[in-house]
Amino acid sequence: MELRQNHSLLGHNTFGMDVRASWFFEYSSEDELLEALPRLERPLLNIGEGSNLLFCGDFRGTVLHCAIRGAEIESTDAETALVRVGAGSNWDSFVEWCISHGLYGAENLSGIPGEVGAAAVQNIGAYGSEACEIIRQVRTVDAESGEIRVFDAAECGYSYRDSIFKRAENKRYIITSVVFALSREWKPILKYKALASEFEGIEPSAEEVRQAVLVMREGKLPDPKVLGNAGSFFVNPLVPASRIGTLSFLYPDMPRFDAGEGMVKLSAAWLIDKAGWKGFQMGRAGVYEHQPLVLVNLGGATGQEILNLANSIINDVYDKFGVELSMEVNRI
Ligand code: EPU
Repeated sequence: MELRQNHSLLGHNTFGMDVRASWFFEYSSEDELLEALPRLERPLLNIGEGSNLLFCGDFRGTVLHCAIRGAEIESTDAETALVRVGAGSNWDSFVEWCISHGLYGAENLSGIPGEVGAAAVQNIGAYGSEACEIIRQVRTVDAESGEIRVFDAAECGYSYRDSIFKRAENKRYIITSVVFALSREWKPILKYKALASEFEGIEPSAEEVRQAVLVMREGKLPDPKVLGNAGSFFVNPLVPASRIGTLSFLYPDMPRFDAGEGMVKLSAAWLIDKAGWKGFQMGRAGVYEHQPLVLVNLGGATGQEILNLANSIINDVYDKFGVELSMEVNRI
């Protein structure tokens, strides 16, 4: 157990914000967390690797970090293995572990920065897969009552980049482990266009899919160790199909995906790109040149500078297309 005062968060956020927490507490077991909870200064902020966070100043309260790590097969049948994974495990190491144990379903989510607990909060998704497709159960500690509460996948309320754990009233639930249902039978998921064309007429192995995803990510997304960022800063907007008639007429090439229930998912990257922001720099904050969904810290930017850039983009995209972008990154 470690409790530190006035702790630097520089190594705990991929945007590279040089801010501090009044207290920082890292726990290696549920018991350690339960024992410490009554004594920790509020508010509490539970973080993973900080790969979806933007600190806009020092945090006055206690930042919690889970150091419960490792994966363990709990049960198997002919098709599926249930694997419990500590919330503090690195996501990509878990994906690698799955492939090396002949367990499938996570390979398209290769290379995503962050930890397993945060993946279950955000319902990370990429290259044709979403974490909720393999999540079976989420185990939490209720920071208010000090009780254990287990959520099955349906109770987590998963949808595109969303879960109940993102709501303010559910921040009390601190995820300690996640149970994944992985397939023992290999079947590639090639829904994402670029993957389908790369493997046209061949059946790739899981490792080949992983490598293809890693190469794609490398081409589009900046390495946070080189250029501070938190991946997609915005989510792809869902708008009623009835509202995009004029836009479709004006921009026949505009990407749009049927999202069901009369809704259409538009591409935030396309809107930002079309509005002319790709590669734009505003002081020390910038829009990444290969993927305009990603805002970058060009060196020494403050959270507020990144936020100012984000708000300018939101206003401009709204003025030009009448579509409201929302931020995916948590602002603290
Ligand atoms: N596009 C442009 N200009 C660009 C880049 C993209 O117009 O410079 C348009 C293209 O039309 C392209 C479309 O945007 O077809 C979609 O691009 P991409 O396939 O890269 O996906 P995305 O919707 O922009 C989402 C996720 C990414 C994930 C990719 C791949 C969100 C918010 N983001 O991006 O997630 O890697 O799909 O599946 O849903 C992340 O969360 O950090 C992240 C990178």
